Amino acid sequence: MRYLLLAALLFSALFTSCNKAADTTDTIVSPDGKITVQFGLNDEGRPYYTCTYESAVVIDTSYIGGFEFKGHPGFDQDFTLMKSEAASAKETWEMPWGEQKTVLDHYNSKKFFLETPDRRRLNVIFKVYDDGIGFRYELPSQINVDSLLVTAETSEFKLTGDHQVWWQPGDWDIYEHLYHATKFSEIDAIKYRNHPNLNATYIPFNAVNTPVTLKTAEGIYLSFHEANLTDYADMTLLVDKDALKFTSGLAGSERTGGKAWISLPFKTPWRSIQIAKRAGDLIESKLVLNLNEPNKIGDVSYFTPMKYVGIWWEMHIGKSTWDLEGSQDMTTFTQGAKSGSRHGATTENAMKYIDFASANGIRGLLVEGWNTGWDKWINTDDREGVFDFMTPYPDYDFDAVTAYAKEKGVEIIMHHETSSAPRTYEKQMDEAYTFMKKHGMNSVKTGYVGKIIPAGEYHHGQWMVRHYQHVIDKAATYKIAINAHEPIKDTGLRRTYPNFIAREGLRGQEFNAWASDGGNPPAHIPTVAFTRMLSGPIDFTPGVFNIKFDEYKKENQVNTTLAQQLALYVVLYSPIQMLCDLPEHYYLPNGQLHPMFQFIRDVGVDWNETKVLDGEVGDFVVIARQERGTDAWFVGGVTGDRERTQEVSFSFLPKGQKYKATFYADGPKAHWNNNPLDYQINTAEVDHNNIMTVRMAPGGGFAISLFPVK
Ligand code: NOJ
Ligand code: CA
Repeated sequence: MRYLLLAALLFSALFTSCNKAADTTDTIVSPDGKITVQFGLNDEGRPYYTCTYESAVVIDTSYIGGFEFKGHPGFDQDFTLMKSEAASAKETWEMPWGEQKTVLDHYNSKKFFLETPDRRRLNVIFKVYDDGIGFRYELPSQINVDSLLVTAETSEFKLTGDHQVWWQPGDWDIYEHLYHATKFSEIDAIKYRNHPNLNATYIPFNAVNTPVTLKTAEGIYLSFHEANLTDYADMTLLVDKDALKFTSGLAGSERTGGKAWISLPFKTPWRSIQIAKRAGDLIESKLVLNLNEPNKIGDVSYFTPMKYVGIWWEMHIGKSTWDLEGSQDMTTFTQGAKSGSRHGATTENAMKYIDFASANGIRGLLVEGWNTGWDKWINTDDREGVFDFMTPYPDYDFDAVTAYAKEKGVEIIMHHETSSAPRTYEKQMDEAYTFMKKHGMNSVKTGYVGKIIPAGEYHHGQWMVRHYQHVIDKAATYKIAINAHEPIKDTGLRRTYPNFIAREGLRGQEFNAWASDGGNPPAHIPTVAFTRMLSGPIDFTPGVFNIKFDEYKKENQVNTTLAQQLALYVVLYSPIQMLCDLPEHYYLPNGQLHPMFQFIRDVGVDWNETKVLDGEVGDFVVIARQERGTDAWFVGGVTGDRERTQEVSFSFLPKGQKYKATFYADGPKAHWNNNPLDYQINTAEVDHNNIMTVRMAPGGGFAISLFPVK
């Protein structure tokens, strides 16, 4: 990766040595002076912090730095501040692919060295940026201990009121819950245990997953998450309704009886707080990425950001099956349910998709169900050894499909469903990646459906955090990029390992195909944009044109208008974007491509710049992005179930240049349920000075392409 150091200002070793008590408080201020963190030790020598934004307290006295260990005394008080070190940095770095090209990393930081009377040591580091703060712990080498099993960590986030919160349950196994909008005091995660469509779910406490986004009565937005989750456990946030505070609750392991084995010295992930006055600033913030380390794997040009089609949606809506044997029904996750053989991944079908991709300038093709094992993955409780990542089904001629794709200029994306048997996957990884490279494949979609084997481990525990990282490291040595489904959440590690290109980690489009609760409601996307999307790229798989798909499933549908499906390509960021519908659904009955399809052909996937023009959490969002390598801009807007007339100011366009704008919008009668296919396409010439109005239907949206007029 090209790492551009424009200006670096680093100074360290500022000092203060003092005893606990009143003079232990210290402050760190953001470069623009708006955010102040105060750190101190209370009368018991317990570390705490507060945070103010433009002089108003946004995080009240919150205790931090508490640890419990198995078989060793923990600590949370009796600390003395030995010294502190200040540092600052102002530098820029480049994203090899991303929402923008250049990122400014500008902060002031301070590291506090703490010690107990029995000489046990803990360092707390704060970094304060203009868009929020991060803090982490360092556990230095301790006398007579070189490793510890952490059983609890205390990091508090004490609120200043009963804020509005957009949250999902603190699940140790999955992030595929709907978001709920409630007051903090009304958070009830336990209510969402045992959702029938979650193939693995474990919600032990009333807690939330991160990122979790809040709005104060004064209109300040906060979002809590973590950065650089490496060799540790995912942090959920436990809800204390009386004290109005969140406290870290790490995902655990029944096999160790703890949360994370750490070898000293050890650095925990950063605990991060984004702070913004405008909801859109949460999306523009690069705080979580900045809290991660620079690229460690070098050039990733083997991965090209792309749009892709796939033998995928047809299985989810039941047109075809993953397995050749017809012995499983994945969409109900029921063992023994016979579906009848309608194998999707056949040579002929793959070639049909290749023809479609090639004819429409779509670079990628994902083929699920190409390998043996699919008949067993649901039908057995012991999924160890079920999948084989080298052996195609007999009706899928791997070499012929590969050769045909190459001839047509299409890149095939590998699929590895591990069925949550990571040890089986680890055994085959070298051979599987060698097989991929031999066939010219540079990226793989991985999947972790079901409960983790061995029992007692969870998707978000340290054991799996290590596995996901092992896959990234191994894939990097083969020059392979990973798109993980049922992943560990992104914590900005794509900066360090840019071969981690995307993840699912949310309720994706697939829920619209089969969820028994009616699928994703219209408020889903305007909520996801301000919550899940703050963590990183989303493989949501947009692009359904046959919104109701009654010929396949009467009881399910997509709960958006057609125009909103186009908007998703801009609103939801990912360097890979699927055109998830069946090729035949992109055509009109007269055999011509649907006019709205033109936007999908045109829209970019890799950006120089991103601007959130407007938005409100859970309500609507409008985003403009400038494509890398061209002068084109694209705008996407989505609304929840409320109709909206939206002003779009084109002031983001460069002055003095005229653009041809094509508006792909909801038709006058459009409605996500009653009339999702009503659309209109209009064109206009616009420049920097124009402001236009676009109407979004309930559950609707719009997309605009902007090409310079020569
Ligand atoms: C769940 C994934 O989210 C989905 O995209 C995939 O098709 C199935 N698992 C099968 O691997
Ligand atoms: Ca999934």
